[in-house]
Amino acid sequence: MELSGKLIFLDECGSTNDEVAALAREGAANGTSVVARVQTAGRGRRGHKWKSLDGNLYLSTLVLPNVPSAKLSGVSVAGVLGILRGISAWCTPGSVLVKWPNDIVSKGRKMGGILCELVDTPTGTGVVCGAGLDVKAPKLDEPASDEPTRLDAIGLEEVASTTLPQLEELAEAVSSGIVESVGAWADAVRDEDEATGPLASLAKEYCARLAYMGQRVVALSHEGLLLATGSLVGVDDWGRALVRDDDGNTQRFTPEQASLRPVGK
Ligand code: BTN
Repeated sequence: MELSGKLIFLDECGSTNDEVAALAREGAANGTSVVARVQTAGRGRRGHKWKSLDGNLYLSTLVLPNVPSAKLSGVSVAGVLGILRGISAWCTPGSVLVKWPNDIVSKGRKMGGILCELVDTPTGTGVVCGAGLDVKAPKLDEPASDEPTRLDAIGLEEVASTTLPQLEELAEAVSSGIVESVGAWADAVRDEDEATGPLASLAKEYCARLAYMGQRVVALSHEGLLLATGSLVGVDDWGRALVRDDDGNTQRFTPEQASLRPVGK
C-alpha cells in the first residue's frame, strides 16, 4: 500500500468526506487527504450533524486497504487509533482515550471521532476516514453534535502538554497516523484466516486505549434506553463491547445497538 497521498487544504466545503470520495472515484492514491477550515454540511456517525466552525480539525483521508470486505469494519478502529498516534506528540500519554466504539475522549468529554465511509475506486473498495477533532475549548452553549446521548465536548488545547501547531501541521500528523495505522492493520489482516475477527491484531492496543475499561458502565440504546449495567471487560475481535453483569453473565453489544456511559454520569 502506497504510504503517502497529497493533502489538499480548502477554505470551505460541504463535507471533506465527499471531497475525498470524489477524488477516490477518479483514482486518487492511498493517503489522499482533504482538510477544510469550515464545513457547511459536516456529518457524524449514524446520520448526525457535525458542527464544523473555524478553529477545529476537519480532515478526510482515503485508505485503500485491500482486505476482504467482511473485514473492512476494522478500518474505523485502526483509523481512530491512528488519530491518537497522530496527536500523541502534543498530549500526555494516556490523556486521550477511545470511548467504544470510536469516539475520542479526554476527561470524560468528547474531543472527536471518525466517520468511515466506503467508496468504489478504480482499484477496488476504498474507505474515506473522516476525522473531526475539537481543538478549541468549546463554548458551552454550543453543543458540537445533535446526538441525544452525547457527552460534553472538550478541545485538544485544554489537555495539550505542549504548544499546539497550526492546523495544517496537525492535519499532516493525523492523516499520517491514519495511513500508517490502517496500513499496518491491513497487512496483518491479509495474513489472517477468514474466521478471524477484523480487530484481532488491534485488540491489545484498542483495550489499552479504551475509556472505562474495567469500570462499571451502562449500555444505552441510541434513544437513551437502559439495556444493561455491568463492568466493561473488553471488546471482542468483531468490535462488540463485552459488559459483564453482577451475576457474571457477559452481554455483547454492537455499535449499532448501544453506546456506553460510566455508571452515574
Ligand atoms: C462522529 O460522529 O463521532 C464522527 C464525526 C466525524 C466528523 C468528521 S469532520 C471531517 C469529516 N467530514 C465529515 O463530514 N465528517 C467527518
